[in-house]
Amino acid sequence: MTESSIFSGKFIVVGVCGGIAAYKSVELIRYLVDAGAHVATIMTPDAEHFIGKTTLTALSSEPVHTSLWDDQSVIPHTRLGQKADLIVVAPATARLIGSYAAGISSDLLTATLIATRAPVVVCPAMHTEMWEHVAVQHNISVLRSRGVFITPPEEGRLAGGDVGKGRLAATHSIVEVMTQALQPQMGNGSLSGKHVVVTAGGTREPIDAVRVLANRSSGKQGHAVARAAASRGALVTLITTVEMSPASGITQVQVETAQQMQEAIEKIAPSADVIVMAAAVADFRPVPIADGKWKKEDGVPPIVLEATPDILAGLGKIKRPGQVLVGFAAETSNLVANAQGKLERKNLDLIVANDVSLPEVGFGHETNAVTIVSAYDEPVTVDLASKTTIAQRVLDSVEKSLHRIQEHT
Ligand code: C5P
Repeated sequence: MTESSIFSGKFIVVGVCGGIAAYKSVELIRYLVDAGAHVATIMTPDAEHFIGKTTLTALSSEPVHTSLWDDQSVIPHTRLGQKADLIVVAPATARLIGSYAAGISSDLLTATLIATRAPVVVCPAMHTEMWEHVAVQHNISVLRSRGVFITPPEEGRLAGGDVGKGRLAATHSIVEVMTQALQPQMGNGSLSGKHVVVTAGGTREPIDAVRVLANRSSGKQGHAVARAAASRGALVTLITTVEMSPASGITQVQVETAQQMQEAIEKIAPSADVIVMAAAVADFRPVPIADGKWKKEDGVPPIVLEATPDILAGLGKIKRPGQVLVGFAAETSNLVANAQGKLERKNLDLIVANDVSLPEVGFGHETNAVTIVSAYDEPVTVDLASKTTIAQRVLDSVEKSLHRIQEHT
């Protein structure tokens, strides 16, 4: 299923709060309407200081709602709350987050949030000092613990020329979390009862106490696989070097180096039904050069590299019957032949190969294009698509492999 079709025919309430990022709701509303959703927009009274009601009415599927009192319909908060398939608040201010966490309904938007049973996605945007305030962070964790999806703010330019964390997440990130929020309702539970372990992100290998050798992996593909597995009912452990908002059904283990990743995965590998090594594990790490920080006055440091353990090959050696082991391979030539070689050498069931020399593919991009090479079936090619869609195709192949293996064990 593509992301756009997920929204088709859905009743989506978009809440807009009073922050400078309110203008960005225009892009989100337009995206959702283009994707076939019915969009009902609620503006808080403060939002009207930042963006015109006429603009949002023109873009939404019905006139914008602003108050509990001037709406023609009876009790608008319950009507919108009940009709909604999903509510997204973008931008969400510290006030809105606080009221929602405390259950205080002081305007139409908070009343609707409290009156709904639909999944809710909250997209905070505020100054760094406000975002980092202990009260805001507490309210965010309260909402998370109640199953509210949070699209964390990004680093970047803020109002008044300041730079820091607090900028509203990009529309594609909000759309990805909304997709995830809708998926559990659609999930077929096809991986329920299975323990899926996923690794994600690039490892960082210390040079000295402050410097690291890193790579460009964003961790997005691995996190998308973890979310997709959770939406199919799996119990998911995500071992990652990247901090991203955890979704329900996922236990997150934070690591930094290849060694830490190896220790974490080897502890849980015996209980895993499926292991997906999407992480970009460093192949080499610096031999430590100093206990503390190498001083500039001491000259250019003599950095010598040593090989890291190949975690995946190690897992291939201890693979238990019935377990599906999936590797990733970033290639620049002979995609399928190189991937096939790795699959055999590392005793894998599947390898997801991508040609990272192509535009929009792999490291750091929102999209990917892969060939899934299997030990049992013909390779499957997935053309350029979002990492969420790629994750679903990878899991389709995982499920096929699980059935195949189970038939033969
Ligand atoms: O051989 P290559 O490094 O291309 O294989 C990539 C796959 O091996 C990925 O799935 C990656 O997570 C895994 N890997 C590993 N340990 C390493 C290097 C790569 O598990 N040291």
